[in-house]
Amino acid sequence: MYFTTNDIQARRDRLAARWDQVLLSDEAVLVHSGKPIGRPGGLDQTYTFLPHPAYFWLTGRRREEEVVLYSRNTGWQEFQKIPPPEQAVWEGEKVDLLVNEPGQTLEQLTGYLQAQGFKTLYQLGQSEQAVTGKAFELRTLLDQTRRVKDAAEVRLIRELAGIAAKGYAVIEKTVAPGITEREIQVAYESEIYRQGAHTVPYDSIVGAGTNSAILHALPTLKKVGPQELVLVDAGADIYDYCVDITRTYVSGTPDSRQKALYQLVLDVQLQCMALTKAGAWWRDIHGRAATLFTQGLLELGILKGSMDSLVEKEVVSLFFPHGLGHLVGLRVRDTGHEENLSPKAYFGARLRVDLQLEPGHLITVEPGLYFIKALLDDPARIAPFKDNIDFNELAHWKNIGGVRIEDNVLVTETGNENLTEAVYKAASL
Ligand code: GLY
Ligand code: MN
Ligand code: MN
Repeated sequence: MYFTTNDIQARRDRLAARWDQVLLSDEAVLVHSGKPIGRPGGLDQTYTFLPHPAYFWLTGRRREEEVVLYSRNTGWQEFQKIPPPEQAVWEGEKVDLLVNEPGQTLEQLTGYLQAQGFKTLYQLGQSEQAVTGKAFELRTLLDQTRRVKDAAEVRLIRELAGIAAKGYAVIEKTVAPGITEREIQVAYESEIYRQGAHTVPYDSIVGAGTNSAILHALPTLKKVGPQELVLVDAGADIYDYCVDITRTYVSGTPDSRQKALYQLVLDVQLQCMALTKAGAWWRDIHGRAATLFTQGLLELGILKGSMDSLVEKEVVSLFFPHGLGHLVGLRVRDTGHEENLSPKAYFGARLRVDLQLEPGHLITVEPGLYFIKALLDDPARIAPFKDNIDFNELAHWKNIGGVRIEDNVLVTETGNENLTEAVYKAASL
């Protein structure tokens, strides 16, 4: 049992304390679990149903078209669906309730709302349309509350990290010249399923050689060469909770550039993880990574000019074009959207979250450096930086690919804890 009734009650208490500050006594919030999404042209086929994370977090229930209601006068009220009898015929007795509390049936919801005479209903969850005004404020409070992970969630994420660690241990033995990217994916995924993962939280990323510079490279039948970087970004998922991990390997003996690139990314990752603490602004830690990478690329002779001008021109975005990380835990992109509706670019990268860290936040720290053909061969992208790049030196690096290293760091009261520490990470190539 991953979550108990007490865990769920504690979450509801935390949220109610915040909602009570803005809700009037004749207002209610309805959080929906959502509906399955039909596959276009797929007749009765739907995509796998995932309950809205807010609903799942508040109820421990995973059934479609359910509602949990909150108002100051009524407290929490559940409206649950009775599965149609034919469901058991097609799907068996689904174990889709982690926490089973007696609720009212969904059919009783309309009558209940009328009897209570609420003046305003705020609809959240998968059935929500554009959420604006006070509904937006309530959703932001909900997201801010649930992004602080509780002990039961952290336990589950630790379990997932253990599962992923076993998968990565298999990769360690599998990466070798001649193996395909697809075989690496299959080796990893078969191990995590064997160890209890329900699914993968996103399509596993495997890129060998130049493909390691494709940020979300999907594995192909390309064979790993004799001396290539191999980047694997793969997670594990149980009931929508997940880890999001990246490791980079080399097939055979690394050359000096592969070693230097790996070392630089690892150093930056370790420094940024050390900065991932309560009170820190995420944009500042991203900025630190971007500055350290600029310095490193200058020392490697790929960039030229003064540090001040390189930093000011944000040339690093050619080689580090993404943000340093994102909140993770319940889904691979956990909350953080509300406070970042128009993402700002820092050092040329738009950040997925732009917030100040608090104890309980779980965030990926995933710096990477890449030699991306789509950027480096684009005259328009290169033009502003013509004087800042040593093109003779760059030519030696262009086919090397990329390195990313990603862990999931829990911010604590006293510092932080790397929950994916168990996944082996080489100290050097
Ligand atoms: N796994 C994709 C990412 O790290 O964002
Ligand atoms: Mn990742
Ligand atoms: Mn990530």
